[in-house]
Amino acid sequence: MKISITKAEQSRISELDFDNLDFGRIFSDHMFEMAYSDGKWHSAVIKPYGPITFEPSMMALHYGQAIFEGMKAYHVNHDTIQLFRPQDHHARLNNSARRLCMPEIDESVFINALEELLKLDHEWVPKKHGQALYIRPVMFATEEYLAAKVSQEYRFFIITSPVGAYYNEGFNPVKLTTSDQYVRAVKGGTGEAKAAGNYGGSFLPALRAQQNGYTQVLWLDANEHKYIEEVGTMNIFFLIGDTLITPGLEGTVLPGITRRSVITLAKEWEVTVEERKISIDELFDAYRSGTLKEIFGAGTAAVISPVGLVHHQGNTIDLDMEKIGPFAKRMYDAITGIQYGKVEDSHGWAHPVDVTTSVYH
Ligand SMILES: Cc1ncc(COP(=O)(O)O)c(C=O)c1O
Repeated sequence: MKISITKAEQSRISELDFDNLDFGRIFSDHMFEMAYSDGKWHSAVIKPYGPITFEPSMMALHYGQAIFEGMKAYHVNHDTIQLFRPQDHHARLNNSARRLCMPEIDESVFINALEELLKLDHEWVPKKHGQALYIRPVMFATEEYLAAKVSQEYRFFIITSPVGAYYNEGFNPVKLTTSDQYVRAVKGGTGEAKAAGNYGGSFLPALRAQQNGYTQVLWLDANEHKYIEEVGTMNIFFLIGDTLITPGLEGTVLPGITRRSVITLAKEWEVTVEERKISIDELFDAYRSGTLKEIFGAGTAAVISPVGLVHHQGNTIDLDMEKIGPFAKRMYDAITGIQYGKVEDSHGWAHPVDVTTSVYH
């Protein structure tokens, strides 16, 4: 599919303070857009970032057919920007689309759109280690029709936002609490899709957790309220003894790309990895017996996020961590090393984009 490109008349980049980047508040000069109607994607454009107009009857607003992805581009050198596992993000986007009865996108269209956008806006990719250009692909239903049914029309955008280093002032272990009242996902629901509605529904429990002094909710399963699932925007890992344990993917947990990378690397380091049900009681037992060594979250935003404290029904696991555990640190260094092109990528995860080759410069 050919992308028609309209360049911004004037770049807004001079307004940007690269040393003070807030997450997701500033958007680079251009955006990608395409439309779906009559059974096909068409009208692919890259154009200046700006407002879009839709009618109030647009179906996404009423029935929630909206999905998205979250990924990052990393500065390697003057000529090269790197994406991390974009094919996996594309595959997950299509999985989400299938679950929500939305149209899939060809991998070549997705990757090409990302590459052209990056070539045009490569100066927006911050250069310091830890900083990155956050990429947000989003698809939503645009048919104007107040009927609770599958929309026949969609729009797909990619917008990008320079983001600061997550760990500017060193690693900051998060505090998690389970919730007695709320669940994130049920078997057969939309938990394994990156559906916008999953997030809207989690805000109230997250707010309650924050009011009680915790960073995020540690979600338990909806049926028995017993097995650990994941955290707000991260999958969760436990190092118990010398075994790395993470909840399996059984339909309620988002299959994280970082999660998959952690599992692959850990196995290569000859660490035993178990993807299985782990109950909150098993976790507390491991803590009490002294075998629980580390807890960390894994996700695109922070890569690896150490967990210092877990609260559950009045009991607390306090790992007394000032910083990150040695295993989580090794994992963080290994993954970010690949992302920033500092460590050899033997897995084909890095997707370098030569930003000097655009025909549009
Ligand atoms: C609910 C949820 N779980 C886990 C993750 C981690 O996924 P990834 O590693 O692909 O960013 C995310 C972030 O996308 C998320 O929103």
